[in-house]
Amino acid sequence: MSSDDNNPEFEDYGRVSSYYDKTRVPAGLDIILKMIAQGKGKSTVILDAGCGTGNYLCGVAPHVKQITGLEFNRGMLKQTIAKVGQSNLVDKVKLLQGSLLEKKLPFDDSSFDAIMINQVIHHLDDGSDPTFPNLRHLLLEFARILKPGGFLSINLTTRNQAGSFWWQSLMPRANKDYADKHIPNGLLIDYLTEAGLGFKEMIACKDPLQGDHYFNPAGPLNSDWRNGDSTWSTLTNDELDGIKEFIQTMVDQGIAGRYMDQHDTQRRAIGQSTFVISYKG
Ligand SMILES: C[S@@+](CC[C@H](N)C(=O)[O-])C[C@H]1O[C@@H](n2cnc3c(N)ncnc32)[C@H](O)[C@@H]1O
Repeated sequence: MSSDDNNPEFEDYGRVSSYYDKTRVPAGLDIILKMIAQGKGKSTVILDAGCGTGNYLCGVAPHVKQITGLEFNRGMLKQTIAKVGQSNLVDKVKLLQGSLLEKKLPFDDSSFDAIMINQVIHHLDDGSDPTFPNLRHLLLEFARILKPGGFLSINLTTRNQAGSFWWQSLMPRANKDYADKHIPNGLLIDYLTEAGLGFKEMIACKDPLQGDHYFNPAGPLNSDWRNGDSTWSTLTNDELDGIKEFIQTMVDQGIAGRYMDQHDTQRRAIGQSTFVISYKG
């Protein structure tokens, strides 16, 4: 178990945990399910690293033998526990509270056929160290606990995709900070290789992380909606007030939908997230 000191978190997931599922969906779940089907299928033993409220975990569980969710934030984990408790998946699921930043993850060598980590790695390093030491170490740990031939799926928003949210041009400072928290693709591949995880492919996903909730031009006016994307929590009060005023004016003028559509071109072109797939040799 970890103390709060062992987490450089910029988002207060304790607060966000009760709102998260109002707007978040497991975007690109089909990509992970395809990887599983092409691998060990129903006999797969998989780790969901940073499982959050269990959206991917519950989507994957019916298709594998066993799934373990490791999550740092107790509020987020509580949501997963409730979701799993209401399902018929209980026997397949193990849940652990703990940090991915521990020197040694609480799993034996060669424990898993697969590991997925969805929208978590930008929470591990704050972008102030361009060598991303926490992620670098975590990849070594992933290589240790993966079985030979097992795969790792890292789902991240790449630096290029950081602007692929229709509202990003309204928050240039926060958007730059958000992009900086993401490891450059080339360095990620170097670290995968260093860890003995052979890079296979990158698959871009155009589905919004917030599903249909993303297409809400008045969304920024609603705190529940903003809680579904951690970039909003990094704004100063002044920045947020300015954006809300701008959106409200567009809503009043009936042009907010057009604004959203015109600023959503990058997502449609290059996607909003990427699955980086690698294998342990
Ligand atoms: C954006 S959420 C993604 C949750 C889930 N994977 C999903 O895609 O729905 C990021 C999650 O990473 C978790 N997280 C951040 N740092 C962590 C750490 N050091 N160890 C474990 N979990 C961590 C947060 O608590 C949060 O639940």
